Amino acid sequence: MIPPVSVRYDADIAIIVINHPPVNALSNTVRAGLLDAVEAADSSAEVTAIVISCAGRTFIAGADVTEFGKPRQPPALADLCNTVEACAKPVVAALHGTALGGGFEIALACHYRVAIDTASMGLPEVKLGLIPGAGGAARLARLAGARPALALTLKGDRLSASAALAQGIVDRVVGEDLLSSAIAFAREIIADGRGPRPTRAIDTHLAGDRSDLAAFDSHAQTLLARYHGQDAPAQCAASVRRALTMDIDSAIAADREAFAALSQGDQSRALRHVFFSERLAGKSDHAAPADLPSRVAILGAGTMGGGIAMAFAAAGYPVNLIDVSAQATEAGMVRIRANYANSVSRGSLREEEAQLRLARISPHGAREAAHDAQLVIEAVFEDMDLKREVFRDLERICAADTILATNTSALDVDQMAGFLQDPSRFVGMHFFSPANVMKLCEIVPNQATSEGTIATAMAMARAIGKVPVIAGNCDGFIGNRMVAKRSAQAERLLQEGALPGDVDAAIRDFGFPMGPLQTNDMSGLDVGYAIRKRRGTHFPIADRVAESGRLGQKTGAGYYRYANGSRQPVDDPVVAEIIEDVSSQLGIARRQIDRAEMIERMIFPLINEGARILEEGLARRPSDIDVVWIYGYGFPRWRGGPLFHADLMGLPYIVERLEAFAWQTGDASLEPAQLLTHLAATGSTFAQWQEARILSGHAIAGEAA
Ligand code: NAI
Repeated sequence: MIPPVSVRYDADIAIIVINHPPVNALSNTVRAGLLDAVEAADSSAEVTAIVISCAGRTFIAGADVTEFGKPRQPPALADLCNTVEACAKPVVAALHGTALGGGFEIALACHYRVAIDTASMGLPEVKLGLIPGAGGAARLARLAGARPALALTLKGDRLSASAALAQGIVDRVVGEDLLSSAIAFAREIIADGRGPRPTRAIDTHLAGDRSDLAAFDSHAQTLLARYHGQDAPAQCAASVRRALTMDIDSAIAADREAFAALSQGDQSRALRHVFFSERLAGKSDHAAPADLPSRVAILGAGTMGGGIAMAFAAAGYPVNLIDVSAQATEAGMVRIRANYANSVSRGSLREEEAQLRLARISPHGAREAAHDAQLVIEAVFEDMDLKREVFRDLERICAADTILATNTSALDVDQMAGFLQDPSRFVGMHFFSPANVMKLCEIVPNQATSEGTIATAMAMARAIGKVPVIAGNCDGFIGNRMVAKRSAQAERLLQEGALPGDVDAAIRDFGFPMGPLQTNDMSGLDVGYAIRKRRGTHFPIADRVAESGRLGQKTGAGYYRYANGSRQPVDDPVVAEIIEDVSSQLGIARRQIDRAEMIERMIFPLINEGARILEEGLARRPSDIDVVWIYGYGFPRWRGGPLFHADLMGLPYIVERLEAFAWQTGDASLEPAQLLTHLAATGSTFAQWQEARILSGHAIAGEAA
C-alpha cells in the first residue's frame, strides 16, 4: 500500500506529498503521517525549507466524513497545525483544487501559501454545525482581518485563489506548474532571508477591531441576525472575537472546547444527518447506464417547463423547449430571458454565462422537435386527458428507448403509465417551483417502471444539481401530501384565533424562511383553491379569501396586501375581518394561541403524515422524508428534517400531543399514525427503525414503487 504521506527532496527543499484518494481527507493516518514528515524535515540538517502539497485532484479537502462525531485518534489537528507553524524552517503550502476545512487550517498554519489560479479555499465547518477547531479563525483573522474571517467562517463560502491573494491570505497565485512554483517561492524566501513567518506573529490587521470591540460586536450581531436559533454561527463569531481578545493559544484552546461541545450537540448531529441522508436518498439500487441522456426536450414552456429548461441549461445540456405554438414558446422564452436578466442585474450570474445558458435553450412550436431527445419531461397543464394525448403522441415521435417523464404534481402516474405501450420507460420527475432554484426532485416510479429508468432519472436529476428522492405514487407524493396537513392546521389556527402574521411568524420562528400563508400568497391562492375543489375539501377562510379575488402576490393581495410590485407582505384588516367573520359563523370563540402551540399544531401533523407514508411503503426510509422537506420546503436544515426532529422531541411526546389535538379539534386525521404509536410505545425512534430495516436487508429498492 502506498503510504498516504511521503517525502521527496529537491536538493535542500523537502517536498511533503499527501496522497490519500479521493480528496486527501484528513483521516488519522494522514494527520499522523504529516506530523512525522514535518517533524523529520524540520530537524533534518540538510533541509532548508518545506513544501506541503497534495497528489490527485485537490489539496486536503477537509475532515474524513467517516470520523464525524467519533472520538479522534491523536494527533489532534490543532496540535498538528501548531507543529507546522512552529517549524524553524519556512513552510510553504502548495494549493490546488479545494483546500477546505481542516485542509485550509493546515494551509493557514503554514508560513506561506502558493495557489494555482483555479484553486479555491474555505472554512465550511458551519455547514455541519461546527466551527474551525484548529485555530483556523484566529489565523485567518491575523492574515486577513477579523471581519473577513468572520464572513468566511459564518457563511462557509469558498474563496477563489485571486480573492484570497487580494485579501493577503495567499502569497502568490500561479497559472501552471504549481509544485515547481512553490519550490521556487521557497527558494526566494531563503535567498532573501525572509525565513519562517508564523501566522500567529502577524498582528497588522487586528488593531482596528481590537481598539473598538463594540463596533466589531455590532457588526457581528448584524450578520448573525439571519442565523436566528443556530448555535454554530454564533460560535463562529465568538471564535473570531477571541482572536481579538485573547492570546492565540488561549483562543485555540477555547475553540477546541467549543468545537467539541458543538460536535456533541443536536444541531451538528442534525446537519450531519442531512449530509449523509442526502447521499443515501440519491443512491439508486441499480447502476445508471454509462451513457446517460445528453439531449433533452421539455414539453410545456410555462412556469415549470421554463424553470426545468433553465436547470438543464445551467448544467450544460442543450434543451428543446416545446409549447403548443411558436408564440406560446416565445412567451416562455420571454420569462426565461427576464429571469436571466434579473440574475445578471443582481450580480448572481455573469452576462456571458447567462448568454451561454440562453443559447442552449432552443424554442420550438411543434412536438416533433422532441424526436431525437433521449429524455423528455412533460410539464403541460395538469389535466389527465391532455397528458394522455401528449404521451401517446410522444411514444409515436420519440425513439423506443427515450425516457418519458412527467412533472405532474398530483395526478396518478400509474393511470398515466396505462396510456403508454411501454410504461417501463415512464417515470414521474416532480420538480419544485422555481425549478431552476429548488433542489428537490421527487422520482415517482409507476408499477412498471424499469430499474434502468429509475436509475437514469435519478442520475439525470443529480447531473443538474438536484437532490433526487424516490417517492411512491399517491396523492401529493411525499412532500405535498405532508404539506397539506400543515395547511389544514394553518386554516384551523386562523379560525381559532390567530391572524396570518401570527401563523407565519411561528413557522419562521421555528426556522423556515417563510410561513405557509406567505408561501401560498407567492404561489397563488387559486392553485390550492382548485385542488380543494377537486378533492371536495372546504377551507372556509382560504376559500373566502380566494373567492374575493385575492389570489396572492400576483393580484396585489391574498392573505396579505402587497404594495405595487412588492413582495413584502403587509397585514390587511380586510383579511382580519374575513377571518373573524368565519370564526363567528362557525361559532368559535377566538382565543390567544401561543407560538409554541402553533408550531406543534403545524409541525406534528406533518410528522404524523410522514409516519403514514412510511407505513404505506411510499418512502424508502425516514431520512428520505427529511431530505424532501429540507430541499423542497425550506425545513430548517439545522433541525435535520421533520422525522429527525421528531426523534429529538421524543415520539411519546408527539403521540401525546397529537392525541390531545385530535380531541381538542375533533379532527380524527390528527390521531397518531400506527407506526408512530408503535415506535413511541416500544421506546424506539425513526432512526432506529431505519437502521433495523437496513440491517434486516428490508428491500430498499423500488419498494416504494
Ligand atoms: P403553466 O400553466 O405555467 O404551464 C403549462 C404550459 O404548458 C403552458 O405554457 C401551456 O401553453 C403548455 N401546454 C399546454 N398544452 C400543451 C401541449 N399539448 N403541448 C405543449 N405544451 C402545452 O403550468 P405549470 O405551473 O408550469 O405546471 C405544469 C405542470 O407542472 C403541471 O402538471 C403541474 O401540476 C406541474 N407542477 C407545477 C408546479 C408549480 O408550482 N406550478 C410544481 C410542480 C409541478
